[in-house]
Amino acid sequence: MVETKLYIDGSWVDGVDGESFSTVDPATGEEIAAVVRAGRVDADRAVAAARRAFDTGPWPTTPPRERAAVLRRIAAAIRADAEELARLESRDAGKLLTDATEDVAEAAEIFDYYAGLAVSEGGEIPPSGPDAVTLVVSEPVGVAALITPWNFPLLMAAQKVAPALAAGCTTILKPAEQAPLSSLELARIAAEAGLPPGVLNVLTGFGPEAGAPLVEDPRVDAVSFTGSEAVGRIIGRTAAETFKRVTLELGGKSPNVVFADADFDAAMEGSAFGVFFHQGQVCSAGSRVLVERSIYDEAVEALCARAAEIRLGHPADPEVSMGPLISAEHRAKVNSYLEHGRADGAHLAYMGRLPTDPDLAGGFYFPPVIFTDVDNTMKIAREEIFGPVMAVIPFTDEEEAVALANDTTYGLAAAVWTSDVKRAVRVSRAIRAGVVWVNDSQPAPVEAPWGGFKASGIGRELGRHGLRAYQETKQIYLNLD
Ligand code: NAI
Ligand code: MG
Repeated sequence: MVETKLYIDGSWVDGVDGESFSTVDPATGEEIAAVVRAGRVDADRAVAAARRAFDTGPWPTTPPRERAAVLRRIAAAIRADAEELARLESRDAGKLLTDATEDVAEAAEIFDYYAGLAVSEGGEIPPSGPDAVTLVVSEPVGVAALITPWNFPLLMAAQKVAPALAAGCTTILKPAEQAPLSSLELARIAAEAGLPPGVLNVLTGFGPEAGAPLVEDPRVDAVSFTGSEAVGRIIGRTAAETFKRVTLELGGKSPNVVFADADFDAAMEGSAFGVFFHQGQVCSAGSRVLVERSIYDEAVEALCARAAEIRLGHPADPEVSMGPLISAEHRAKVNSYLEHGRADGAHLAYMGRLPTDPDLAGGFYFPPVIFTDVDNTMKIAREEIFGPVMAVIPFTDEEEAVALANDTTYGLAAAVWTSDVKRAVRVSRAIRAGVVWVNDSQPAPVEAPWGGFKASGIGRELGRHGLRAYQETKQIYLNLD
């Protein structure tokens, strides 16, 4: 069984007030484990440990090559434990085992990638005259609080922890209360890989109790958060009080634009995947499917046919293509959009069936849903549902497609399906989003920056940009005169 205590300063410790909470298997509704419910005092201890580990070292001043070696050992250990980690993640977060397996492999890749950057990303020497030299060097920003969501628990943890460690920061990871177990496993793995005490602390618990104190604490230099827009706003505001570096990766209502000249089958497959992947609990879900009018009827039929192929059931069953939502509470939220859709006059074109297996009766299943004839002003086209609910919206021409795509408060991702290269580039440039896929949906290569425009967030993760989030820039001016 995995550890369920807090990991602070290199030790597994109980919470000071002895409270715990259950993490549940969304597939069955059963408790998996009781985990420590950290509070303010625990957060204070974790910050103190991270602060000390930063201020007295050795991590921030460890030669990058040695830091990289630790990161590579973490990657190797993740791979060695991959099967078990994937099973744990699948169970704790209700992810298809196949998806969880991919997440684990990608988490390992992220550690390897940032191990590489730790030793290859140097500073700069701007041109100067003969009497001076200026060195521009990168230094770790300090103590980083890393607050993660439940949809990709290990992957999001890796996406924040790996660059933070590569940069030389010390960290407090606060995983989502719905799926904290893989983050605790990551702490164990990192310790075994030789990460010094205090460099990665893991604090399980609820946002306002365990997360908020980290954001308020003046000893914390940076916060990286992935989650809801509402909490992102609170974090941004709170972090401003102490001038923390802030990275926010928030929600989306991403457009998936299908032109009549696209490879029809590929576009349909990608559009369905874009919104039904992981039950739609994906920040970059292509939840608004914009379809050119000349192929609209055909597309609706094809999308419904694809949705009808989806089989709901236990996430570990290899025949199953859609598992449960994360919680009963979240299911109720997703369900409320069925009513909104109907009330606003959208047409409910498809709704799948729930699993009938009595063993799954306590799980949080929700069927794939397709609304058609959606107007972009409707609630189902404007709000992030974070469930398997597709809104199909017709458009007449490229200009209208771009206008609809951009008519959203969000700007995380977009997909464009067309066989016209010029149009692909034109539309990609015109859409105000941090990620645009052409003839694809959802790839997120480790090497490329990930993040949003507008209400989808601030800053970037992954790629070189992901490292910079954890670095301060310093100029050192040498007078040679
Ligand atoms: P949330 O934003 O409440 O939780 C995300 C993380 O923030 C968790 O670790 C949580 O404990 C922590 N947190 C909550 N309140 C906090 C506070 N005041 N200070 C510091 N940390 C805090 O998201 P939740 O409730 O799980 O999901 C609500 C909605 O958010 C979803 O329906 C979805 O629309 C969106 N969401 C977006 C995600 C993304 O990938 N961008 C991931 C998860 C949720
Ligand atoms: Mg759970």
